[in-house]
Amino acid sequence: MAEDPFSGFKAAQRESWGLFLPVETFTTPPAAVLVRHAGIQAGDRVLDVGCGTGVATLSAAARGAIAKGLDLSPALLERARDNAELAGLAIEFTEGDVENLPYRDAEFDVVTSQFGHMFAPRPERAVSEMLRVLRPGGTLAFSTWPPEMFMGRMFALVGRYAPPVEGAAPPLLWGRPDTILERLGDHVKDVVFERGLALTPALSPQHFRIFMESSAAPLVKVVESTKDDPARLAGFRAELDSLISLYLHDNQLHQHFLCTRATKV
Ligand SMILES: C[S@@+](CC[C@H](N)C(=O)[O-])C[C@H]1O[C@@H](n2cnc3c(N)ncnc32)[C@H](O)[C@@H]1O
Repeated sequence: MAEDPFSGFKAAQRESWGLFLPVETFTTPPAAVLVRHAGIQAGDRVLDVGCGTGVATLSAAARGAIAKGLDLSPALLERARDNAELAGLAIEFTEGDVENLPYRDAEFDVVTSQFGHMFAPRPERAVSEMLRVLRPGGTLAFSTWPPEMFMGRMFALVGRYAPPVEGAAPPLLWGRPDTILERLGDHVKDVVFERGLALTPALSPQHFRIFMESSAAPLVKVVESTKDDPARLAGFRAELDSLISLYLHDNQLHQHFLCTRATKV
């Protein structure tokens, strides 16, 4: 097999996503929304890609699904295994890449991804792999961030300060229904979109920013790449604080996400 041109990029992602662990508290409620949106039922064979610490994987297993999780980050997978053990759920977690899934064709009834596959540099590869391991008639369901809402706008800001790796698709395009329809094409039918709201407690824009700077890979990258340019870093922080303040009400940051569900033809 030809060498992956994004192997260096993925090695960096593998390390930087390892800091994401504290964010699981805030991705836990949206995981329940995704699992409900996907219509997961007892006995379904479910694969959760970009599973992180397993919030959606455990939510699927709690409904009686036979769930497996896959992620790039060994640190997050270790936590996912601890989470499953604590909850008394038998889940197989595997280190791997959504662009090259280590599963058989048509092995799953449902494939989910909560804010995960959107970080793969080649969306066409991620889609083709997620659909390959899904049986015909099975459900593909994922959550992504709309570009016009908080998280999408934050990604756009991050992209101005730490430009994406050449050739890698911007993650926020996954938040656009027209792009999703185009990427899934005629491999699926019965596409259904739903919006959800994730709430993150924060006392001030600065509190939320500091939390994200130390735990979310795209922000970690900006801080790292501007560390020798304090004025640029200060400019980034000022812009981010002002963006956060637009969505911070009642001591909670309001982040809308988009759930997509489709049936493989
Ligand atoms: C925003 S986190 C979401 C984690 C989890 N699904 C949740 O909702 O808490 C993104 C996850 O995608 C994973 N990821 C990024 N690129 C990936 C790839 N190419 N293959 C598999 N996982 C990937 C990261 O390691 C990280 O765990």
